[in-house]
Amino acid sequence: MPEVLRGRAPAKVNLVLEVLRRRDDGYHELDTIFQELELSDEVELRLDGPPGIEVDGPFANGTPADAANLAWRAALALRERLGIAGGEPRLRLTKHIPPAGGLGGGASDAATVLRLLATAWPGANDSILREVAATLGSDEVFFLVGGTARGTGRGERVTPLPALPPHDVVLFVPPFSIERKTGQMFAALGRHALDPGGIAGRFAQAPPPAVRSAGLHNAFERVAFEVFPELAPLRERIEAATGEQVRLAGAGPTLFWMGPAGAGGRVARAAEGCPCTVILTRTAGAR
Ligand code: C5P
Repeated sequence: MPEVLRGRAPAKVNLVLEVLRRRDDGYHELDTIFQELELSDEVELRLDGPPGIEVDGPFANGTPADAANLAWRAALALRERLGIAGGEPRLRLTKHIPPAGGLGGGASDAATVLRLLATAWPGANDSILREVAATLGSDEVFFLVGGTARGTGRGERVTPLPALPPHDVVLFVPPFSIERKTGQMFAALGRHALDPGGIAGRFAQAPPPAVRSAGLHNAFERVAFEVFPELAPLRERIEAATGEQVRLAGAGPTLFWMGPAGAGGRVARAAEGCPCTVILTRTAGAR
């Protein structure tokens, strides 16, 4: 067994995010299309040293470097599920994905930890990984699958779709977020009509060869501009500067543009000077 295990933990955006209904267990029934991005954190894991967690990289701020970290909790949950004694890892997360922005960075780090541990711990098959992932968070299973995929249920029932052709993606990361953001965003949706459904299903049946952010759908746009009062002026400024429509990423508050491969550089440059961090990346194909 190698002493150090290393893996990428990619970000995602939701190309379609429909919220269909509130369930009796408090979660919401979703129909969503996930898309993996090239922008990734790096995960390093050792099983032979003193246990612990370190977080570094340009977006280390805002990621807990203690037992509250989801990647750490993922390791302990898999260890418990497999009945392994000892086995507390030493983790190092190098954060390139802005935290709490709707890009799934924390969930992705945790899924990468599960995948890395599965190469070291016997018995960690796919179905056990999915089972443990689903207990950690609703987006978690997608990051075991990657590429382009449809998520139903609370998001944890994931079906892979054919890889889209490469697209450029530009992320506009605002300098604000809120605590317990995902739960608060779902709660805010309770004051609005939910989605009738059908958009994600049509996308899955006939994935469009050319995706444009202007044609995408995200239910959280109904509430994001109330929950984050500075987001509407930021969106207006980005759209005026770039001449392009942008969408909300997941539960926000990151906004994104998606369009033809090669066109993202112009969009990113046009947004220079907007009060947000601009990141140019691309879609990533199936693993
Ligand atoms: O599953 P996860 O921990 O990511 O979800 C955080 C919170 O978001 C949940 O506690 C729940 O309030 C809300 N949620 C929901 N419906 C979903 C996913 C999340 O209401 N499908």
